[in-house]
Amino acid sequence: MAAFSGLSGVAGIAGLSTCASAQTDWPADWPADSLKAIARSRGLRFGSALGGQEPESQQRFGFADPAYRALIARECELLVHENEMKWQALRPSRDRFEFTRADAILQWAETQGLSTRGHTLLWQAPRWLPAWLNQLDFGSTPVKAAEAILREHIRTVTQRYGRRIMSWDVVNESVAHEDGELRANAFSPHLGTFGQVELAFRYAAEYAPHAELVYNDYMGMGRYFIKHRAGVLKLLDGLRKRDAPVHALGLQAHVGTSANGEWSGRGGEDEREWRRFLDEVTGMGLKLLITEFDVSDQHLLADTARRDTEVAAIGKAFLDITLSYRQLRDVLCWGMADAYSWLQVFGPRTDQLMKRGTPYDAHLQPKPLRQALAAALRAAPPR
Ligand code: XIL
Repeated sequence: MAAFSGLSGVAGIAGLSTCASAQTDWPADWPADSLKAIARSRGLRFGSALGGQEPESQQRFGFADPAYRALIARECELLVHENEMKWQALRPSRDRFEFTRADAILQWAETQGLSTRGHTLLWQAPRWLPAWLNQLDFGSTPVKAAEAILREHIRTVTQRYGRRIMSWDVVNESVAHEDGELRANAFSPHLGTFGQVELAFRYAAEYAPHAELVYNDYMGMGRYFIKHRAGVLKLLDGLRKRDAPVHALGLQAHVGTSANGEWSGRGGEDEREWRRFLDEVTGMGLKLLITEFDVSDQHLLADTARRDTEVAAIGKAFLDITLSYRQLRDVLCWGMADAYSWLQVFGPRTDQLMKRGTPYDAHLQPKPLRQALAAALRAAPPR
């Protein structure tokens, strides 16, 4: 089936059980003011990433904290592993898979009634692939060897979890934001930069035919992303022309400030460009997800109250536009509390203050960003 093409693609997806026709009611034991219940009232689903440990800094993430787990269970119906399903976590070596940490989080999610998304079957940049793969000698039949490695990885991971994962970020961040070109890695000389993306989707469709297959990337609303957005459109169009089984675009949505103000668009032309981008994507018959929402306050003034207000406003501006698209059904934050956010490690503030880019603070108290999320979900047109 040409799962990608126009309306037939959308109809195909609508038949999947994760994406079954929108539910606007929720289980009796959900608090009515939880983000998951507010989302459901509009036919949306709300969730978050949850991780065990930050791999580079070893900073502890929230999975070990029972209070944080309870917060996630209260607010979310969707979960995604922050790092534990990436190659670096699952593949200590070419011949070994290590599932212990990924399994633990998935099992916890299931005991709480949360559905899990899979992230990610191929993160294209070499920085996020294991060293053994980056240095691999692919031998005398390198194309075959490269295909076999990619196939084996996708088969093993998707088959292990089967229908416990109904939506996969199949490929992550293929497009380089500097020039909009596809990123080269160890597979590229043998499979091509585009070829490996196409293959990954074909393998995912073969081994996880039940699942929603997502291309996930961080192109955003500001001028900084002009080439990035163009590159993503080119990639999606190329996949469509080849009838590759791609169902949705994952909008990572790491919004926020940058030194020159070009990261998050605000107002006027930037918003129009973002809508044009989303129109083009949905015009291809693709669905949308917000997969990793947070707001970087790296360049905002220190004052906590003002910072929180600004973070909420930046987040709300993005959410209001993006949630106006009915093709978008799932909204996930990249962590729910500042204490466990990757933002503390990536792009820390020069004044060393804790960044405040998630809905809850370090003491698990809600902040204006949580109110902004609730308001944006409430204001979303019903699905
Ligand atoms: C990040 C994690 O949050 C960090 O702990 C890790 O060191 C690097 O990856 N885009 C993605 C996510 O698709 O997988 C990234 O997660 C954040 C950016």
